[in-house]
Amino acid sequence: MALYQLSYMSNLVKPDKAMLRTIVETARRRNKPNQITGMLLCCDGQIVQVLEGPEAAVHETFGRIASDSRHHCIVELTSFEVERRDFEGWSMGFHMPEFGRFSTPNDMEWLFKLSPEEVVKRVEPGLARSILKNFGAEASV
Ligand SMILES: Cc1cc2nc3c(=O)[nH]c(=O)nc-3n(C[C@H](O)[C@H](O)[C@H](O)COP(=O)(O)O)c2cc1C
Repeated sequence: MALYQLSYMSNLVKPDKAMLRTIVETARRRNKPNQITGMLLCCDGQIVQVLEGPEAAVHETFGRIASDSRHHCIVELTSFEVERRDFEGWSMGFHMPEFGRFSTPNDMEWLFKLSPEEVVKRVEPGLARSILKNFGAEASV
């Protein structure tokens, strides 16, 4: 079955660490049996998430996430078939980077300074994938 990767940005309706922890726990529990791996970042209430796995499972999971009222302004960044996973072994890596305290001042920080709508206009999907993948490699999840 084709391996698929989808990423999106959104804004939490109410940034709250306890709520985020619940979301990540749910994600890890639900993603494992669905063979979904990925990464969830939250910076200043803005979410970037990558989902990867069998195509049908990625779409089904994203459908559930997209109708979740805990976040809004949901825009897809990337959506394509991939040859291999970027986040193998992570049922959902989680990191809350802080502005000015990124492990390296990098493209990820720049990405978070833009609104989800601006990111879609200005960042082409191949670049978005490599920024997310590089950040994943550095993140202490
Ligand atoms: C920002 C965010 C990320 C989420 N990530 C996932 C995820 O990776 N996998 C997942 O199954 N649910 C995720 N959820 C939770 C789903 O929206 C949904 O609440 C959950 O899958 C339970 O669905 P159910 O109540 O229909 O069983 C996420 C929710 C939010 C707000």
